[in-house]
Amino acid sequence: MSEPRTLLAIDHVSKNFGRVTAVDGISLDIRENEFFALLGPSGCGKTTLLRMLAGFETPSDGRILLDGKDIARTPPNKRPVNLMFQSYALFPHMSVRANVSYGLEMERLPAKEIRSRVDAILATTELVPFADRKPEQLSGGQKQRVALARALVKRPRLLLLDEPLGALDKKLRGAMQLELKRLQHEVGITFVIVTHDQEESLVMADRMAVLKDGKLLQCDTPHAVYEHPADRFVADFIGVMNFITGKASPDGVVAANGTRIAGKVPAALTPGASAVASVRPERIRLFPETLTANRTTGTVEVLAYHGLDLQLHIRTPLSPKPFLVRITADAADRRPVESGDQVELGWDAADVRIFAE
Ligand SMILES: Nc1ncnc2c1ncn2[C@@H]1O[C@H](COP(=O)(O)OP(=O)(O)O)[C@@H](O)[C@H]1O
Ligand SMILES: [Mg+2]
Repeated sequence: MSEPRTLLAIDHVSKNFGRVTAVDGISLDIRENEFFALLGPSGCGKTTLLRMLAGFETPSDGRILLDGKDIARTPPNKRPVNLMFQSYALFPHMSVRANVSYGLEMERLPAKEIRSRVDAILATTELVPFADRKPEQLSGGQKQRVALARALVKRPRLLLLDEPLGALDKKLRGAMQLELKRLQHEVGITFVIVTHDQEESLVMADRMAVLKDGKLLQCDTPHAVYEHPADRFVADFIGVMNFITGKASPDGVVAANGTRIAGKVPAALTPGASAVASVRPERIRLFPETLTANRTTGTVEVLAYHGLDLQLHIRTPLSPKPFLVRITADAADRRPVESGDQVELGWDAADVRIFAE
C-alpha cells in the first residue's frame, strides 16, 4: 500500500478567547479520504478547532496547511472545505431539491450541470422520493440527509461535521452512523466529524483524536486507542474499564490490599509511585484454569443479559467499585452463574494497562 497522503496539517494550533484557551497547541495530520473523528467531553475545544479548519475562526497561534499551503488568509468560501451545521440550517420555504441545488446556483454553474450533480447526490443520499418536499415534511433522519446532500453536492475536499447525529434518537443514530460511513466511502471525500460520543467515534472513524481541555491526548485508530489508551483519562473515557489503584512496582501494581497485579509498567513510572492498573470487562475470565498471576475471588452482585453477552457486577477486594465483567452467552451456558455466587476471576498480564494515577 502507498503511504497515505496528508490533506490537512494542523501545526501547533491554539485559540484563546480572552483568558480561555479553547484549543491548546494541537498538532494533527488528517489524511486524504479518511474518516477522522475529533472526540472529547463537552467544552474541550472540538467546535473551535473545526471552526478554524472551516475559516470561521482564526488561530491565535500555529498554522493550518491544506496540501502543504497555509490557509490562514483564505476566507471560508474560498476554501475547498464545507462545514455542516448541527442545526442543519435548511431553508424552510424551499424544496429538498432547491435546498440541495442552492449552493451550485450561487456558483452560477450551468443549469445542466447543476441538474445532473443534484440528481446524482439525491440518489446517493436516497432522497429522490422526497425531492419535492419541504423540510417540515421530513423526519429528523431525512433532514440530516438533506443537509449532507447540500454539503456534498459542492464536492469539497474536506467535509466538516459538528455532532451531525446529535439531534437523532438512539436507533436512528446507529443506522445513520453506518450510512455516513457508506456515503463517505462512496463519495471519496475526507470527513472530519466532531462527537462527544466515544462509541460513535469507535464505530465510524478510521482514526480519531481524543481531546481534553483543549489539548490532544491521543491520535490513532479506534482499535489502538481502545487497546492502548495513552493515559488514565483516555482509558476511562473510551469504553468501560476496571481500575485497581495502588503503587507501582517493577512488574506491575500492588493494590491497596496488598494483591500484586502483574502487567507492563510504563518506563516513566517509578516504583512506589501512585499508579492504576486497568483491565477491560471482556478480558476478564470467570473460573480461569491456566492463570497464576492476576486472579481474585468476588461475589456476583448484578447480572444483566445483553443478548450476545452477559454483563456482571462482581464485588472484589481489589477495588471499592465492583468489577464489570462481560462473558459470552456461550460461556454462561457452559457454567451458569447467579447473583450471590462466589466466583474466581482472572486475566492475563498482557491485558493489563498501567497508568500514573
Ligand atoms: N466565541 C467564544 N467566546 C468565548 N469563549 C468561547 C467561544 N467559543 C468557545 N468558547 C469556550 O472555549 C471552550 C471550548 O469550546 P468548544 O470549542 O465549543 O467546545 P466543544 O465543542 O468541545 O464542546 C469552552 O470553554 C467555551 O466556553
Ligand atoms: Mg461543540
